[in-house]
Amino acid sequence: MIIKECIAVVTGASSGIGLELCRLMAAEGAEVYGLCRRPVPHDHPRISWLQTDVTDRLAVDRAFDTVLKRHRAVDLLVNNAGFGLFGSVETLDPDEWQRLLATNLTAPFLCTRRVVPGMKERKRGTIVNISSIAGKRGFANGSAYCASKFALNGFSESLREELRGEGIRVCSINPGSTATEFFQHTGIEPKKLMRTEDVARAILSLIELPDDILPDQLVLRPL
Ligand SMILES: NC(=O)c1ccc[n+]([C@@H]2O[C@H](COP(=O)([O-])OP(=O)(O)OC[C@H]3O[C@@H](n4cnc5c(N)ncnc54)[C@H](OP(=O)(O)O)[C@@H]3O)[C@@H](O)[C@H]2O)c1
Repeated sequence: MIIKECIAVVTGASSGIGLELCRLMAAEGAEVYGLCRRPVPHDHPRISWLQTDVTDRLAVDRAFDTVLKRHRAVDLLVNNAGFGLFGSVETLDPDEWQRLLATNLTAPFLCTRRVVPGMKERKRGTIVNISSIAGKRGFANGSAYCASKFALNGFSESLREELRGEGIRVCSINPGSTATEFFQHTGIEPKKLMRTEDVARAILSLIELPDDILPDQLVLRPL
């Protein structure tokens, strides 16, 4: 995919991996729409920030209505918004569990369903789901987060098979610990962290592969 010809939507665009991806893609010439709850300073003419809580179905629809009024279709969707929730199972708050699934799992579905029709019509498009190494291997006190990311990987795998005949690529990204705001409220301090910019660049290099190559997943670990 040629980034500079791209209409891209990135969720979770106010910090971390999402913000870095928006900036990198805009710098390469893409027209980027960033969805997030916090207002973000307008720091690039090719990035439009659409203040959106991705757990709110109507808000998601409003954001995609805005994008699809301006453009015939979205070329690239990055489902990146997400957060971590850790703790022993009896201490997990059921409302937080629901909020986690709504953000990490249901939101990618809500966004994907809005871009697929246009992608099918044009027989091209890329959907990138930001999962985690926690979506591949469970660990103690990770039941909520791992469940959300395992499920997201299941969503990606099925969607990939559903859409590959339509010329649409679905990629699953599984990063390990990355230096973002992610760990701020989790009580976890990882020993080693990857730099946000490096992770975003790795994701971008995958997206930039020619359209007839389907990079189905990427796992990135700190060394
Ligand atoms: N950092 C890591 O070690 C790591 C490792 C593996 C996977 N990941 C995954 O990478 C993704 C990005 O996380 P990050 O590390 O870049 O963390 P981050 O800096 O905390 O960024 C998370 C982003 O998600 C957005 N977000 C959260 N809830 C949202 C909601 N309801 N509606 C809209 N946006 C929402 C936040 O924006 P607002 O608060 O402005 O809404 C923020 O922009 C997540 O899916 C995370 O699970 C991270």
